[in-house]
Amino acid sequence: MMAGCKSWRCVWYALLLLFVIVIGLLCYTPSFRCLTQENEEATVRNPADHPVLLLIWLWPFNQTFDLECCNSRFNVPSCVLTDDRDSVGKADAVLIHHRDVAWDASNLPQVPRPLQQKWIWMNFESPSNTARIPGLNNMFNISLTYRKDADISVPYGSLVPVDRRFEAFVDFVPFEKDKLVCWIVSNYRPEHRRVQYYKQLRKYVQIHVYGDLFEKRVSDEEYKDIVSSCKFYLSFENSVHKDYITEKLFNALDLGAVPIVFGPSRRNYERFVPGDAFIHVDDFPSMKALAKHLFLLNHNEALYLRYFRWRRRFRVKMSTFPEENVCQACEYIQRNRQYQVLTNLYQWFWDTSEGLDMPPSFY
Ligand SMILES: *[C@@H]1O[C@H](CO)[C@@H](O)[C@H](O)[C@H]1NC(C)=O
Ligand SMILES: *[C@@H]1O[C@H](CO)[C@@H](O)[C@H](O)[C@H]1NC(C)=O
Repeated sequence: MMAGCKSWRCVWYALLLLFVIVIGLLCYTPSFRCLTQENEEATVRNPADHPVLLLIWLWPFNQTFDLECCNSRFNVPSCVLTDDRDSVGKADAVLIHHRDVAWDASNLPQVPRPLQQKWIWMNFESPSNTARIPGLNNMFNISLTYRKDADISVPYGSLVPVDRRFEAFVDFVPFEKDKLVCWIVSNYRPEHRRVQYYKQLRKYVQIHVYGDLFEKRVSDEEYKDIVSSCKFYLSFENSVHKDYITEKLFNALDLGAVPIVFGPSRRNYERFVPGDAFIHVDDFPSMKALAKHLFLLNHNEALYLRYFRWRRRFRVKMSTFPEENVCQACEYIQRNRQYQVLTNLYQWFWDTSEGLDMPPSFY
């Protein structure tokens, strides 16, 4: 009996020893160590390094672009763009371009929204040209638009500092000009206030006008040649709204024509570009007085050149729509992981868009 007991004990000890040896060996095998190290890394890794999966639910204006562009063109790494709707269950964010929802909120993702997922409302039209699609008011988490007070604010263009450390400053010399005032207009509607300004102004000064309505369609190349050959360019917005300052201003600045702006207040423009870079229609009591000023500048080179002083310090940077906007959204999502809702979108976008002197919105 005793001997049998002892031998059983021996077997137990032997098994125990074997077990310890196996565990010991396992701990030192590379695959096991890889596994444990990976776990350690996962816990110390910065959550911001986690790549963002951004689903483009509707291609803006139904036009596709390179899904790799964030890394290759805008220096936004760790951003995975996809248009594969099957990934709606795992996407960190879903991008919805307002215009392309058309009139039907059923165009939006229908499955229950994952808890961490954020929906981005993307729109670059002015409130006057944006439909109030029913059912969208309290659906989004983040706004992506041209407004300065948007969550992700992407203006149509901006002035960025030039680095002149290594070059002597040479005053900008405008290109050869053979026209005084030009206007390229694609959406000519008599009821627009800008058309009324145009009609008044042309009583006093010749305006070279181009566009579909005038049977002078302008290609991209022609556009540059035309604008740069004019001393002044009518940067007239199609509607007047806070911060709604489009490429009409930035292209003229870039191409060396002095913009005559119609849009939000001068004060609002001065939040984007220096006050001496443009002429505002509100600066004059009448279009007659504006025309008089233009004639003065036409004959006084020194006064005219003052409108280019901003070029000593800045150059124009245009935003590349929609790629750049989408990549900025991706970067924002990466940096802002917290809970976030966009309440009462319509009230914010429409009712607080009328001008700078409005009381601050509820933001
Ligand atoms: C968008 O483009 C696709 C493919 O070119 C086409 O099938 C579809 O009808 C377009 N949708 C709209 C709303 O234009
Ligand atoms: C996003 O917004 C919706 C409603 O606007 C809200 O129900 C949801 O919890 C929000 N999600 C996150 C991750 O902030």
